[in-house]
Amino acid sequence: MKPTLEWLANPEIYEVNREKAHSDHTYTTKDGNLRQSLNGTWKFNYTEHPDSRPADFYKTDFDVTSFDDIIVPGHIQLQGYDKPQYVNTQYPWEGHEQLVPPQIPKKRNPVGSYVKFFDVDKELLGKETFISFQGVETAIYVWLNGEFVGYSEDSFTPSEFNITPYLKEKNNKLAVEVYRYSTASWLEDQDFWRFSGIFRDVYLYAVPEIHVRDMKVIADYDYENGNGILATELDIIGDSDYEIKLTLTDKNGIKVYEGNTANVSASIPDIMPWSAEQPNLYTITAEISSDSEIIETAETKIGFRTFELKDGIMCLNGKRIVFKGINRHEWNAEGGRVVTEDDMLWDIRFMKQNNINAVRTCHYPNNSLWYQLCDEYGIYLIAETNLESHGTWQKMGACEPSINVPASLPEWKEACLDRARSMYERDKNHASVLIWSCGNESYCGDDIAAMADYFHEVDSTRLVHYEGVVWNRKYDHITDMESRMYAKPDEVEEYLKQNTGKPYISCEYMHAMGNSLGGMKLYTDLEDKYEAYQGGFIWDYIDQALYKNGVLVYGGDFDDRASDYGFCTNGIVYADRTYSPKVSEAKRLYSNIRMSLENGVLTVENRNLFTDTSRYIFKVTLEKEGDILSAEEHRLNISAGEAGSVKLGLNIPENGGEYVLTANAVLAEDTIWAEKGHEISFAQQIVKTPEITAPMTAHKAEIVYGDFCIGVNGEGFSMQFDKREGGVSSLVYNGVEYITRAPKVSFFRAHTDNDTGAGYPCENAQWQIAGKCAKLLGFETKENADSLEVTFKFLAPTVPSFEYKVTYIAYFDGRLGVKAEYDGVKGLSDMPVFAMDFKMKKQYDKFTFYGMGPDENYIDRNNGARLGVYTLTALENFTKYLNPQECGNRTGVRYVNVYEENGAGLNFTATENPFEMSVLPYNAYELDNAIHRDELPDPTYTWVRIAAKQMGVGGDDSWGAPVHKEFKINSEEAMSLEFIVSSL
Ligand code: GAL
Repeated sequence: MKPTLEWLANPEIYEVNREKAHSDHTYTTKDGNLRQSLNGTWKFNYTEHPDSRPADFYKTDFDVTSFDDIIVPGHIQLQGYDKPQYVNTQYPWEGHEQLVPPQIPKKRNPVGSYVKFFDVDKELLGKETFISFQGVETAIYVWLNGEFVGYSEDSFTPSEFNITPYLKEKNNKLAVEVYRYSTASWLEDQDFWRFSGIFRDVYLYAVPEIHVRDMKVIADYDYENGNGILATELDIIGDSDYEIKLTLTDKNGIKVYEGNTANVSASIPDIMPWSAEQPNLYTITAEISSDSEIIETAETKIGFRTFELKDGIMCLNGKRIVFKGINRHEWNAEGGRVVTEDDMLWDIRFMKQNNINAVRTCHYPNNSLWYQLCDEYGIYLIAETNLESHGTWQKMGACEPSINVPASLPEWKEACLDRARSMYERDKNHASVLIWSCGNESYCGDDIAAMADYFHEVDSTRLVHYEGVVWNRKYDHITDMESRMYAKPDEVEEYLKQNTGKPYISCEYMHAMGNSLGGMKLYTDLEDKYEAYQGGFIWDYIDQALYKNGVLVYGGDFDDRASDYGFCTNGIVYADRTYSPKVSEAKRLYSNIRMSLENGVLTVENRNLFTDTSRYIFKVTLEKEGDILSAEEHRLNISAGEAGSVKLGLNIPENGGEYVLTANAVLAEDTIWAEKGHEISFAQQIVKTPEITAPMTAHKAEIVYGDFCIGVNGEGFSMQFDKREGGVSSLVYNGVEYITRAPKVSFFRAHTDNDTGAGYPCENAQWQIAGKCAKLLGFETKENADSLEVTFKFLAPTVPSFEYKVTYIAYFDGRLGVKAEYDGVKGLSDMPVFAMDFKMKKQYDKFTFYGMGPDENYIDRNNGARLGVYTLTALENFTKYLNPQECGNRTGVRYVNVYEENGAGLNFTATENPFEMSVLPYNAYELDNAIHRDELPDPTYTWVRIAAKQMGVGGDDSWGAPVHKEFKINSEEAMSLEFIVSSL
């Protein structure tokens, strides 16, 4: 067949000569595994347009010595050609060409012409040989030694071709032409960076004369009596004269079953079932021999488990499952979607260490190794087909499906089915895959219905997911579960109350863009209220940011237009695989161990489905302001689904102030994903006992009423209150001045991504200037026996305007009391924050606080925080969101010490109620002005913000969802902030 570029624009041609998809099992022969990698350096030529490509480059006499070098696997756009482009729902040609499906860009369609010369490894010689491209974006033409081999689309499943007729022993010329755009582009409109190129492994594999081409293994678990139900179907090609020995061995290599046909059906007693909690795997081995000689040994790992809908509830091995899930894009900040084995190992350990039990492979089949790791480590998967046609039906948020593909169009149907088939066939034996997903956000029609029918038909051991039916309920039947994205907690609840008989999951929720993940508990609380609530998948796992000149950047930073800018930075993990503060919240709320401490008793609720608590050590410590007073350990054997308790031996002293009891559940032994001692859950109890306060000794101080300032001078300190500054203008302890300019009340926080999405910059605009531009109305003084009070009154320039006041109490023992009061006003939006900002000299950049930590937390995201004493620097507290925004806050703060290297500095202590606090090298306005970290000025001061309260960060979505009412500040209500400043 003669290849033509017309294939690129024809949705009915998505492969030519491509091999049938098959399982990803492994095999060995007497000559080894017969695989030869072609990864490495290839010759490469790049052109912007097909017309200018070197069309004859595949010919054996075409000299490619002038071609560049390129690394395979790798994206073309990350190796010095073209540019990566980040777009969400819009197609990459937006604003460049107006296209309708199935048209493809005419002005610009970058072509990569790849050439690889290779000799064939001797083990492969003389055998039937195939080439496998594990992932190429978006369409490839392949030639070997001048002969056309085949064509393929679908970037995320393997494209394999039989190259036996064209292969020589030495100096083979493999030529591959990769097109950035084809009709596949219409089906690959995922919200991700748009690249092209050969981005996964390329290898040759040869097969012996008899070969297991495909293995289909069904491994059900009869949870009533503990039997494994094994059924195999093997596709064996080549000579038909062979014997087969099929064995099943357990993890210790002990044989538990043996048969001698390719298609067995057996019931095996005493099987150890597979679950994420106990990922027991078995190996099934097919040994093929002929004339008593072993020709091939094929094998794959399997796990026995039964996943089913029981009375409308998704059950694994008979138990209701709750997905504590996350969406994972394959990502590496240097390589894009070229992920390394180390990346995958890091990811899987991360999931396990942080109580995540499920991953949706958004929005395409992943590298095969990922599924093996999920089987082995224990992660449930929603395996998603590579299909998203978002921009064909949703325009600027509105549903407008007039040009939707695939819809019910016959010309797109086979391509979609092909994608489903390629995924199913490759991944069907993986225990971790519980659910097949037809794709993401492609609206619906008969074509997607056909994909769902296909999955239902070929696989009765799994369920089918498709969220898109929410846009057209005519297709409700294609999904086995009600799945929604970004439904608010009350909307989810409304559905659950209807008892439809279909279980519910949020295939995406908790949009973790920037400073987010607030209010997650409103969702996880539904687990206990409704059986049919079966969890959700956080959006998403890792920021899709890329390194450019050593700095992480996002959409638009490569001059890529159109762009959706920072919308690719929604990870709970930063792109460099370090933890963001969102992790601790997810970890706590996803934990299967819940604990509480009360009346000297530790109660443990074991929410695991299959595992008792003998694998944990329960540690309890008693602390006072960070000092451990005593500690004890317990071993408890609480069965799955049960609760139990233990009486503590620790005694809390009857007086002395605040004590903190902390219970930690930690791993008793090393596992493959974490070391012994790794914490999986914690709980705290705060016990307040009467405090013995030393009686105040009488102090004397001199008060000086000046024309501009009022001074208070005492032993070892002096203070000044400036009548024009409107506040404390001098605070000197032991001869050191701690005030730069008078602190100011602030009602403003740098907008978070969620704030911007919710329209708060406009809605709350007045709060931005309320404190900054306030007018000083006057002041009053009052002398007390032990202090002087100076009260400043301000007028905020809002409409309506309001007055607020700040009272300083200069105690004669040198402490400075601060009290800011706001009476509440009608007619203004909710208040972002009620705070006072202290501008301290830069050298005071270290701080120690007693409050909720260690990570940044907010009133709607502090379930993962714990009361303790923590130390860090202002810069360390500047959270690494790529778009600088409000950050670094701590709730429940009793005190904070801000100091310089030698320990000198100020203490801020809450009087009545704990405050919220941040210490940062930037102020709120500087943070708000910058949209990249490198736009921030060099730090010149340390900004200490003490707040009575700050609104939550929200997280239901980042494009309109408000922060939940209970986490907002109603500006009609009075607010007051009180604390004491003193010298350290
Ligand atoms: C969803 C989509 C995701 C991502 C998210 C917003 O609609 O499925 O891929 O775009 O919105 O970040």
